[in-house]
Amino acid sequence: AQDVPPEENVFSYKGVLYPVLLCSPATFEALESFEARSDDVLLAGYPKSGNNWILQILNDLVTADLKKNKEALEERMKHEEKGDYTFLEFGDPGKFERIKKLPFRRVLATHLLPGCLPTSISKNNAKILMLSRNPKDVAVSYFHFSNGMPLLPSFKTWDEFFNAFVCGEVVWGSYFDYMIEWNKRINNKNIMFITYEELKENLILGVKKITEFFEFSMTEEELQAVMDRSSFQAMNENSHSTHGTFGNILFRKGAISDWKTLFTEAQNQEMERKFEECLAETKLGAKIMY
Ligand code: A3P
Repeated sequence: AQDVPPEENVFSYKGVLYPVLLCSPATFEALESFEARSDDVLLAGYPKSGNNWILQILNDLVTADLKKNKEALEERMKHEEKGDYTFLEFGDPGKFERIKKLPFRRVLATHLLPGCLPTSISKNNAKILMLSRNPKDVAVSYFHFSNGMPLLPSFKTWDEFFNAFVCGEVVWGSYFDYMIEWNKRINNKNIMFITYEELKENLILGVKKITEFFEFSMTEEELQAVMDRSSFQAMNENSHSTHGTFGNILFRKGAISDWKTLFTEAQNQEMERKFEECLAETKLGAKIMY
């Protein structure tokens, strides 16, 4: 995909760019009539916000919560191995039919704007965990990921990526538009907002909040096991079996403030200006720390 001209490996849907190798307009259309369930466990996050980290935690919580139901647990293990349905906007449109009757709480994720999600989510009171991360670290992580991951358009230089990121000309669109749209839902009781940075600072507290929000029943021992399995080191060591060849691209540094390795002072100021303009006055903006 790296040799394909950039305009050929992306398509635009409702004004936002997506990679053709991961998404398709047919899947977006099928998603509109997807029936979310009240017990679904949904994760929403802009790319590179730590989605795979939180997905690991959510999957472990659901598995531990299911321990009393052996049949459902076995079924879930079969599906987890395939792992083909988690991201709502990835894959073929037929997958929604396949996951319709899964007899366990489905862990689902998305990088989509809230307005692009199926209306059944709010109609059926499905809960969403919304994850955010500071835009500077997201940008640096996204740059490295775009260049390491053949399914995404690549960028010749950091400066080129930085400009595209600030203008929202990257796949999944503008970080800032994304945050502005999610901020409009900040008082929604069915949406819990959490940040990458607060999880880095105090993971056990974050995991306990997530556990309460989704009403999982969990012993201290089980929580500790979830914690142990979700450390950067543990996930990095296990990355080949969980994410195949993309594992080493996905688990890069897992640190706060890595933006300092690439940002120039002018870029730092530009990002701060953009943040001021779009998010500084919002409740979600106030949660995003860096
Ligand atoms: P870096 O590129 O800054 O290292 P996503 O899963 O949304 O694509 O996000 C990927 C980012 O989350 C990467 O950031 C990755 O290292 C980080 N990450 C993944 N697992 C993590 C963990 N267990 N703890 C902290 N950060 C993690």
